[in-house]
Amino acid sequence: VDKPKSILVIFGATGDLANRKLFPSIYRLYKNGKLSEDFAVVGVARRPLTNEDFRSNVEHSVTSSRPENEQINADFFSHFYYQPFDVTDLASYQKLKSLLHSLDEKHHTGENRIFYLAMAPNFFGTIAENLKNEGLTDTNGWSRLVIEKPFGHDYPSAKKLNEQIRQAFNEDQIYRIDHYLGKEMVQNIEVIRFANAMFEPLWNNQYIANIQITSSETLGVGERGRYYDKSGALRDMVQNHMLQMLALLAMEPPIKLTPDEIRSEKVKVLRALRDMTAENVDHYFVRGQYGHGISNGEKVDGYRDETAIESDSNTETFVAGKLMIDNFRWAGVPFYIRTGKRMEIKATEIVIQFKDLPMNLYFNKGKDIQPNLLVIHIHPDEGVTLHLNAEKRGVGTTSTPVKLNYYSHNEDKINTPEAYEVLLYDCMLGDSTNFTHWDEVALSWKFVDVISQAWQNKKANFPNYESGSMGPKESNQLLDKDGFHWWSI
Ligand code: BG6
Repeated sequence: VDKPKSILVIFGATGDLANRKLFPSIYRLYKNGKLSEDFAVVGVARRPLTNEDFRSNVEHSVTSSRPENEQINADFFSHFYYQPFDVTDLASYQKLKSLLHSLDEKHHTGENRIFYLAMAPNFFGTIAENLKNEGLTDTNGWSRLVIEKPFGHDYPSAKKLNEQIRQAFNEDQIYRIDHYLGKEMVQNIEVIRFANAMFEPLWNNQYIANIQITSSETLGVGERGRYYDKSGALRDMVQNHMLQMLALLAMEPPIKLTPDEIRSEKVKVLRALRDMTAENVDHYFVRGQYGHGISNGEKVDGYRDETAIESDSNTETFVAGKLMIDNFRWAGVPFYIRTGKRMEIKATEIVIQFKDLPMNLYFNKGKDIQPNLLVIHIHPDEGVTLHLNAEKRGVGTTSTPVKLNYYSHNEDKINTPEAYEVLLYDCMLGDSTNFTHWDEVALSWKFVDVISQAWQNKKANFPNYESGSMGPKESNQLLDKDGFHWWSI
């Protein structure tokens, strides 16, 4: 196992992401022997904590995410340090610089640094510039910048942010997080496609009728109203996670599995997306906002009654869309995407529906047989299911559907690495395959900007779906028009 040496500096170290995801992930890397003993983590944030306070926060976050009987090596926490920080005050950077120097010596970290921005995005640019100007990136090792979403709010703001951080870091030092790319089954899309002789020959408009990507959540907006009401599902989920999954499903086989080759194939998919126009948005996209209802057996409020949400908010909490990829492989094949909050189930799944056979020799209960489906379960189950017609019962021309399953339920997956664990390790190794390049970010924003513009200019008739449902009826009509329906698997 490669054991990279580095100091990880976390901006926003008292925040939710650091506590819920980053600290437990660092611990798992340590426990699984992927971190060398030579590492340090420096937390920075506004609050005036001491190293001891910080270590006990980390301990709390790590312990609460562990199985009860697991012994935690106390030595682990001694690698954590804290510095109160004001992102606009240059003196803070100078202090951090000398702390990093001393930790380099103490922990033999080879002057390698990861600056992880896990905080509100309005300071991303400022921090990147100050890190460079104050000399924190000027070391004998490497420096990398990890950036959480949202990467901008639309194309112009993303471009501006990118220009700012590019003043200080090169593209190959920038790791833009899309945590879906750290999910095991998202990474496996490529493997399923390119390591099996039986799929790739069928992976085109001759044999595939449509592809459906669903990422539904049962939770509402929770405590994130202030961010979410200005964002909405299109920016929050479609611009990044949904389009990334679509690109992996639709890309051409890369000539090699290097970050550059894979990225260049993904970029081509995004370039081939049929452009939306103000006039055709309603034909291709549906938006929704949840009203009150029953979620997981409990009565819940509608979106407009949640904390920090305007009582007449026009923000969408649900999006369904039909995307066309106008290239040779995919001409005519709709890619349907759907994502929303307060839906019936929490699940991320991809369904590839194959075309019907030219003629039916068999019937299932008097009806036409079901099409073949390949289902990729991303979350909570992880695996694949292939739907076949394979069982002839008794006399006559009946065939019954059967499922070939290869998957494990979430509960069995306690040892699969969390997305953040995978991504942190990749970044330490300098592997940027599962991070988003600026070209992808730019194209995705350009695609969704037209839709958000159109929606902003026209008020919706919200709320239009009940909490605990699978979204507004228009989402079903979107597929009905084409003679398809959402598969609920
Ligand atoms: C985040 C969004 O990027 O993804 C959240 O900001 C959303 O709104 C989350 O809840 C969903 O991620 P996952 O891994 O739970 O599907």
